[in-house]
Formats: sequence, structure tokens, C-alpha cells
Amino acid sequence: MKGLKFISTGRSIPEKVVTNDDMSRIVDTSDEWIRTRTGIHQRHFCEQEDAASLAIGAARQALERSGISPAEIGVCVAATVTPQHASPANACLIQAALGLEEDTPCFDISAGCTGFLYGLEVVRGMLTISPKRYALLVGGEELSRVMDMTDRSTCVLFGDGAGAAVVTLEEGALWAATLGTRGNAEILSVDAVGRAPSYIHVDGQGVYRFAVEVIPHCAKELLAQSGLTLDEVAWIVPHQANRRIVETAAKRLHLDMEKFFLNIDRYGNTSAASIPIALDEMAQQGLLQKGQKVMAIAFGAGLTWGGALFQW
Ligand code: ACO
Repeated sequence: MKGLKFISTGRSIPEKVVTNDDMSRIVDTSDEWIRTRTGIHQRHFCEQEDAASLAIGAARQALERSGISPAEIGVCVAATVTPQHASPANACLIQAALGLEEDTPCFDISAGCTGFLYGLEVVRGMLTISPKRYALLVGGEELSRVMDMTDRSTCVLFGDGAGAAVVTLEEGALWAATLGTRGNAEILSVDAVGRAPSYIHVDGQGVYRFAVEVIPHCAKELLAQSGLTLDEVAWIVPHQANRRIVETAAKRLHLDMEKFFLNIDRYGNTSAASIPIALDEMAQQGLLQKGQKVMAIAFGAGLTWGGALFQW
């Protein structure tokens, strides 16, 4: 079986930092409530930036770090629930900005916060039919655009940002993946484009129950497919929705928290961007060592879930 290898990563984060105290000046909330319920200390909101510039910025950084020329990219996919336009796709804007060749399929994926993991499987499939060796995959969101700033139960949870990776298909590379969907528009949704105002809606406890079910499910499925044990996995990179979700999932897997990478304190929930931003931070901080086995697991609107196991 052919698995994906990560060649490089990148990220783009808006300059403006919004602390919990800043949020408490907008809605009736407190730093203490947000920290203890979610683990979030601050998030970034777009001011000068937008969905397109974030996605392009992350993609450009990943491509530059890869040392691969734009002409070698065989497919460009962007995962997002907040694209710059309903159409054309963010991936088309990335193509234009980076000068990817015209024979490159470029399209977006809407799979909620699981978008980057759906994207990994999509580009893995696309690379089997591409004459070129590399794929550019981006997860990017401008969630501040769809947040109801009068609803304290949702507006404190999210942030803006984008992450990206250049990947290639390699014979014999460790790879296991699992994706799933439980069609449901009640627990988590974003209003249709063109509906004004368009907001994100969250049944927090519904998401919580769903998340603590599917994280252990994905981890066990990836272990079963690969024949590995959790001891052999160096890192679990979870979707950054809530620290308490990860703590509960860790308990259910009989793991301590050290194996889980968390940066939700600094970014909040950036939906499809959360996994690639986390991978990029880990790579840049030297936390990811060559040869380490890594699990990425996400869950989100759809309801969708997904996991991937690979070797760094
Ligand atoms: N500040 C202060 N009080 C608040 C806030 C806030 N920001 N938000 C809600 N409250 C209040 C409510 O009004 C309610 O008050 P009441 O008891 O007087 O009615 C009380 O806090 C409890 O409200 P709940 O919604 O029951 O709060 P809960 O304990 O469930 O915590 C949370 C909410 C953190 C969202 C939790 O449900 C959760 O972690 N959910 C999972 C994560 C999630 O939903 N993330 C969103 C993205 S989904 C994704 O990424 C896939």
C-alpha cells in the first residue's frame, strides 16, 4: 500500500490577538469561564487578512519550505467551511497566487473540522491518478466572519487561521486512515452562503458526547489497521475544539496527556485549520522527529470524523 509522506508544512495566522478579557468586553463572559470550560486563553481574528490571504499564506510557506517547484504540484485541495467565495474555491485562488500549472485540479472540501483529514485521503487517491508526485493540501478558516458576536455560548470558542502541507505518495510508507459521517445538521452547522447573517450554530453538549465517542473509536481503528500499539505512537494530534474533550478521550484510551499535542490555548478552535496548524507548530518547534509515528484525529460538522496514522 502507498502511504503519504509529509514533505513540509506551513501556517498563516492573523496578527490580531483577542484575549478572553477582550471577549468579556463583547459578551457576558469571563476569562475564568472560558479557560476552565474550554482551555482557550486567546484566539486570532482577521482584520487585514481574510480567508483567501490566510489559505494562500499557509500554502506559500509550505511550498517554499518543500523546495518543490509549483510545476511539480499535481493537485491542490483546500478544506474549509468559510471559503472566500462560494465559488471559485479557495484552492483556485491558491493556484493563481502560487502559479500552479493549469493542468492541476484545484478544489475545496467541506467536511467541517475534519476537512484536513478528509483532504489527506482525497489527495492520496488523486496522486494515484496524477502524472505528478506532490499534492498541496490546505486547511483554512475565517470563522470570525460567521460568529454571532451576541451569542456567548459560541463566539468565545473559535479563531481564524490556516495551515498547509506538501505531501507525496510513497510505496511502503506507514499509512492507516479512517473516515466517517453521521448525517446530522442539528448538532453543528454553518448557515448557507448568501443567508444574511450567516452564523455558526453549536449544540455544545452534543458535540462533546460525539467527540469523546469518536476520538477513541478512530484511535482504535488506526491501531487495528496498522497492527501498532499506542506505546509505539509518539504523538496524537487531536482537533483543537476543547481541552476537556481531549482529557476525557485520553482517559478512555488509558493515556496520559503528554502524548496529545494541544495549542487550543493560543488559537481557539480553527476548524479545518486546527490539525495542519498543530503539525506545523510541532515541526517548527522540533517536537516531531523523523521516524516518529503520529496519529491525527478530528471530528466536526457533518457530523464527520477522521483519523490518519503516518510516520513523520
Ligand atoms: N461565558 C459564561 N457563561 C456561559 C458562556 C460563556 N462564554 N457560554 C455559556 N455560558 C453559560 C450558559 O448560559 C449556561 O448558563 P445557565 O446554566 O445559567 O443556563 C451555562 O454556562 C452552561 O451552559 P452550557 O452550554 O451547558 O455549557 P457547557 O458546560 O456545556 O460548556 C461548551 C459549553 C464549552 C461549548 C461545551 O459544551 C463543550 O465543550 N462542547 C464541545 C466543544 C464544542 O462544542 N466546540 C465547538 C466547535 S465544534 C467542533 O469543533 C467540532
